[in-house]
Amino acid sequence: MNLLITGGAGFIGSHLIWQVIDQPEVTKIVNLDCLTYAGHLENLEGIHGTHPRYLFEQVDLRDKDAVLRVIRQHDITHVMHLAAESHVDRSITGPADFITTNINGTFHLLEACRTHWSDPASSIQHRASRFLHVSTDEVYGSLAPTAPAFTETTPYAPNSPYSASKAASDMLVRSYHHTYGLPTLITHCSNNYGPRQHPEKFIPVIIQSVLQRQPIPVYGDGMNVRDWLYVSDHCQALWTLLTTGKTGETYNIGGQNEQTNLHLVQQICDLIDELDPSLGGNSRSLITFVPDRPGHDRRYAMDTAKISSELRWQPVHTFEVGLRETVSWYLEHQHGARAVTHGFLAEVSRHY
Ligand code: NAD
Ligand code: DAU
Repeated sequence: MNLLITGGAGFIGSHLIWQVIDQPEVTKIVNLDCLTYAGHLENLEGIHGTHPRYLFEQVDLRDKDAVLRVIRQHDITHVMHLAAESHVDRSITGPADFITTNINGTFHLLEACRTHWSDPASSIQHRASRFLHVSTDEVYGSLAPTAPAFTETTPYAPNSPYSASKAASDMLVRSYHHTYGLPTLITHCSNNYGPRQHPEKFIPVIIQSVLQRQPIPVYGDGMNVRDWLYVSDHCQALWTLLTTGKTGETYNIGGQNEQTNLHLVQQICDLIDELDPSLGGNSRSLITFVPDRPGHDRRYAMDTAKISSELRWQPVHTFEVGLRETVSWYLEHQHGARAVTHGFLAEVSRHY
């Protein structure tokens, strides 16, 4: 398997590379990433520049010729496509990059694979290859509090420029399977958490606010619900799907772990109070309600019966264990002067 992972310097992509690089099926992994504000090679310290199976291509998906060059030069047989603009708040304040990267970038990657895998001079028979497209649960829209969870047949109803751009890219992937027979799979996953997540995302925002004794910004009434999944469980699902999933199909992935934002914040406050009493305790007093995100989806919930019955995938981490590991990692990496060992952890940015 000559495996291309796009977005490998990001949060999930870097965990995925750590998890699959030593799998016996893998001949080499090519990490294609242009290193936006969200991409950090520190996430791959110990692999980048040292692992014999690992190669890095600093390429922007928006550069169509460069994408084709990478697919050809490395004779790519399998693709796990994660590179994207991924933060909903940024898509509200500046949607343009979401359109060009998430839609045009995916189009360029599909075209490159179609070209290479159908080229008689290529060593790849396209039936032996796979294109796994990593999408999101947000394409399904928002659920009422007691509505049944999203299934793979729930109609699309994206509400933010981010989810609309992901939905558009899903449609392109679908069409390449239907029209050209490209061996695609599409995944819809719920909210991931774990070490090394970019500091703009909610769980790192909470942890850093508590550590710095700053107000913890909770949008609206804090009653929005997300289904949280530990990142390595997501990566395990992606690998299972790449190797044994059925092409042409879509699969939901989730943690069966719905939490209101307010309850999530309270648990993290209590955990930090327990793990680091030197901070003074009573971290819940930092909780601060702030104006809501425009168009804020109320609830996501995933029905994962398909992946669990067809492929026997289940998350391994309970939320209690995963959250403890995550918070411990941040405490370890930010202790001392409350300084940041990885420079990127300092990049907390508020957008409106
Ligand atoms: P991230 O923002 O942490 O990382 C994205 C990576 O993509 C970065 O390394 C960035 O440099 C790279 N990238 C962005 N634009 C690029 C371009 N034009 N060309 C090349 N590289 C580019 O994202 P993440 O949270 O790891 O999410 C990865 C994927 O998983 C995304 O497709 C996202 O939609 C999807 N997803 C994320 C979650 C989640 O909770 N984080 C849940 C479900 C699905
Ligand atoms: O559901 C999957 C999606 O999860 C992925 O597709 C996205 O790439 C990923 O960013 C994530 O989107 P969310 O918008 O759900 O994640 P975020 O961490 O930005 O916010 C989680 C919840 O917390 C959401 O209801 C908004 C709220 N929030 C967020 C921030 C950053 C706050 O209340 N305060 C904050 O400061």
